[in-house]
Amino acid sequence: MTRKIDIFDTTLRDGEQSPGASMNTEEKLVVARQLLRLNVDVIEAGFPISSPGDFESVRRIAELAGDQAVVCGLTRAVEKDIDSAADALKYAKRPRIHTGLGVSPSHLRDKLRISEDECVERAVKCVKYAKKYVEDVQFYAEDAGRSDYNFLVRVIQAVVDAGATVVNIPDTTGYSLPEEFGQRIKYLVEGVNGIENVKIAVHCHNDLGMATALAMAGVKNGASQIECTINGLGERAGNTAMEEVVMAIKMHGDELDAHTDVNTREFCKASRLVSSITGMNVQANKAIVGANAFAHSSGIHQDGVLKKRDTYEIIDPADVGAGTSQIVLTARSGHAALKHRLEELGYELEGEALDQVYEAFLNLADKKKEVYDEDLESLVNERDRNESALYTLEGVQISCGFPLTPTATVTLKNAADQTVTACEYGTGPIDAMCKAVNKIVQVDNDLTEFAVQSVTRGIDALGEVTIRVTDPAGDIYTGRGADGDIVVSSTKAYLNALNRLLNDKQEKRG
Ligand code: KIV
Ligand code: ZN
Repeated sequence: MTRKIDIFDTTLRDGEQSPGASMNTEEKLVVARQLLRLNVDVIEAGFPISSPGDFESVRRIAELAGDQAVVCGLTRAVEKDIDSAADALKYAKRPRIHTGLGVSPSHLRDKLRISEDECVERAVKCVKYAKKYVEDVQFYAEDAGRSDYNFLVRVIQAVVDAGATVVNIPDTTGYSLPEEFGQRIKYLVEGVNGIENVKIAVHCHNDLGMATALAMAGVKNGASQIECTINGLGERAGNTAMEEVVMAIKMHGDELDAHTDVNTREFCKASRLVSSITGMNVQANKAIVGANAFAHSSGIHQDGVLKKRDTYEIIDPADVGAGTSQIVLTARSGHAALKHRLEELGYELEGEALDQVYEAFLNLADKKKEVYDEDLESLVNERDRNESALYTLEGVQISCGFPLTPTATVTLKNAADQTVTACEYGTGPIDAMCKAVNKIVQVDNDLTEFAVQSVTRGIDALGEVTIRVTDPAGDIYTGRGADGDIVVSSTKAYLNALNRLLNDKQEKRG
């Protein structure tokens, strides 16, 4: 049997640190359910001290996961952070506290302003403090990728001696070259006494586009846990993408003497779900889950693939859940058929929630002959987006064209159940719609990004709009909306972004 490599997902913590990718607790629970379907080993559910929302997410995900996965909360090397993480993980069956601090010259000198001795002292103290609450304590040596080799050995030796069960070696800035990063892991394996009794984790960022290669170099040299995110989401250029490392290990398991327990058939669905919830679109040429990952356009390639698939394809698309899209239901399908198909897709809806999705499904099936799995996923996500909405869309009407002045009439329902209508004109239909919405919602913002994408193929496909707005404080909020009519999708997306902005401000005000 090859070595088991633990997959530690941090989509809900580092992934959420991507500007505009923040998720509320309900959305995080939806992603967590998908992570459980993927069968990841560890879910880093948040940074509990950072906000009441993060605390609540960690608490609820710990309950949800039961004993299926370890649930982890991040902390700084600060006692009050560790107290908060322990409290959020109180009811977890398999809790882990992830604590640590910077270890590179840059972090010691310019950020923490402490000496090497103080750094070691703090590292030991935080591990020992976390150990009072939980057995499973993971230590991160932030910016290890730029640290001095011997100092890193010293810190890791100290935390292993203090009882850390996992030592995380992050390339926080994505600076390293894969071979050098691999050497660093090897140096620890050879230089730290007792390291064979703990897990070595790698946590790599993608600033030079090498996050996957760095993680693989780590595994090759002794790491037994990879920290990663769905779609490679994460701070700046992102983290190692889970789908990439897991498939690389699957392809090269024998050479690497490694395997994971991830259910790879859930990858495409996980990718669509995270993209839909965070509004972070996946590039078409993204490895494994991009729209073109299994598309062959040159005649020579098509000819080869038709003769034998593996002439140009190293992965069977079905192994990652790609190209399995089915025409599932029609306007004649009943409630039970919809419920059944949604369950097969991993959504358990009952009562009012199911009725709402059924109504949306019938509306869509009336307009569109073929309803695909992706359409159903989009309808469920659309309903979830409306759950915590302060404003919901009651109607939108646009008149535009040449030589008309684009005009929009928008009707919204507010949290007090009042219906308000506003009319505005603008330079184009979207501008007019946004102005009409702003007249009602009255929250300062700048629309900075607008993109339309079709959910499936065909002229009658649902159009999914992604909008990003920035508030005066510089915070970015993403909104999504899906409908057969892209003016309606745009209005839903804009409202979704403003609802997120309002909810976030409300949460920050406490
Ligand atoms: O990139 C990093 O160093 C991190 C740590 C908090 C693990 O995200
Ligand atoms: Zn990180």
